[in-house]
Amino acid sequence: MGNGIESEPWVRYESKYIEEIAEVIRKKLDPKLLHVDDDIVGIDFRLKELKSLINSQLHDVRVVGIYGTGGIGKTTIAKIVYNEIQCEFNGASFLENVKESFNKGCQLQLQQKLLQGIAGQKIELSNIDDGINMIKNTLGSKKVLIVTDDVDRREQLESLVGSRNWFGAGTTIIVTTRDQLLLRYYGVDVTYEVKKLDNVEAIELFNKHAFKQNAPKEDYVTLSNSMVAYAQGLPLALKVLGSSLHGMTIDEWKSASNKLKNNPKKEINDVLRISYDMLDGSEKKVFLDIACFFEGEDKAFVSKILDGCNLHATYNIRVLCDKCLITISDSMIQMHNLIQQMGWAIIREEYPEDPSKWSRLWDLNDIYDAFSRQKQYKKTLEREEAS
Ligand SMILES: Nc1ncnc2c1ncn2[C@@H]1O[C@H](COP(=O)(O)OP(=O)(O)OP(=O)(O)O)[C@@H](O)[C@H]1O
Ligand SMILES: [Mg+2]
Repeated sequence: MGNGIESEPWVRYESKYIEEIAEVIRKKLDPKLLHVDDDIVGIDFRLKELKSLINSQLHDVRVVGIYGTGGIGKTTIAKIVYNEIQCEFNGASFLENVKESFNKGCQLQLQQKLLQGIAGQKIELSNIDDGINMIKNTLGSKKVLIVTDDVDRREQLESLVGSRNWFGAGTTIIVTTRDQLLLRYYGVDVTYEVKKLDNVEAIELFNKHAFKQNAPKEDYVTLSNSMVAYAQGLPLALKVLGSSLHGMTIDEWKSASNKLKNNPKKEINDVLRISYDMLDGSEKKVFLDIACFFEGEDKAFVSKILDGCNLHATYNIRVLCDKCLITISDSMIQMHNLIQQMGWAIIREEYPEDPSKWSRLWDLNDIYDAFSRQKQYKKTLEREEAS
């Protein structure tokens, strides 16, 4: 049978077909759309290019790789295309931040999410192999759309979308990664590189955030052009820099521009850092606390803790949102990984070799190192006192 409904060579009960038809219609009428920011620029052309590579009408399984540097817009374009084409499939699942989930040891949860997103019910899994078998058995005859976002190792793909014959004809698998080589090793059919924004698009995005309009204010034109140049066509940097400068005086703009001009490296991290430097004391504390402890946590829960430390959660979280340093999605606080890494670097930089002196500890290895140093320090003191 066409229209995305599977037919089988043997006779099936009518009620089973009706159930399947109802399921397909339900998915088409009520697609689970992912949230995408409404300030996206230069997307039409890119989306057309990407969609021409996908072609979900094919009868085999299609694997599409999307690659590009951090903050360039891979996840964003993958979400947009997912929202647009998911109704052409019998089921769809978008697995966000695969790398991070694996690093946290949440492989099973990802497999569960994949199965649940498509089968519509929670499936208990006892281990990764059990998950693989379930994926094969449940999805083997279905035409599905799967996005594995931000992958950095082959094992991640192997446990989620290991082989084409796990899925039914017409299935499309989209993999996003910073690592083009990984796509080659995995054996994708086509690759799509997300390119940086051109100058016109970059100015448009920057202006949207810095001036809340398309054209810069008259006195700011030259400064705004140099800021756009520092962001190197990277949407993340354009947003963060633009929104941090919004409402600032011309002198504050000049000071930020000088900092970047005098920085020999001028890396994206240095551009993002300007936004941190422009925060006040308690905003900085909240920013660092979120980077180290609260990314992905519920806003109400985090607010309670921050308020308990006199950190004016409601106000400061709002400021960080306005400056595009965090976003709130489904009541969860989210921070882009490049911004989070900048936060970690800020804490590490004062005493790069000695975690026991850091203001915050978030990584198990550093915690272990810090306690070992403390223990060592205590022993030395005791020895000195005894002698
Ligand atoms: N075309 C665009 N126009 C406006 N903003 C964009 C565009 N593309 C991406 N962004 C914004 O830039 C930021 C980074 O985008 P995104 O998270 O998609 O990057 P990424 O390539 O997936 O990064 P990473 O490799 O770290 O996962 C997001 O805030 C997103 O909203
Ligand atoms: Mg991403």
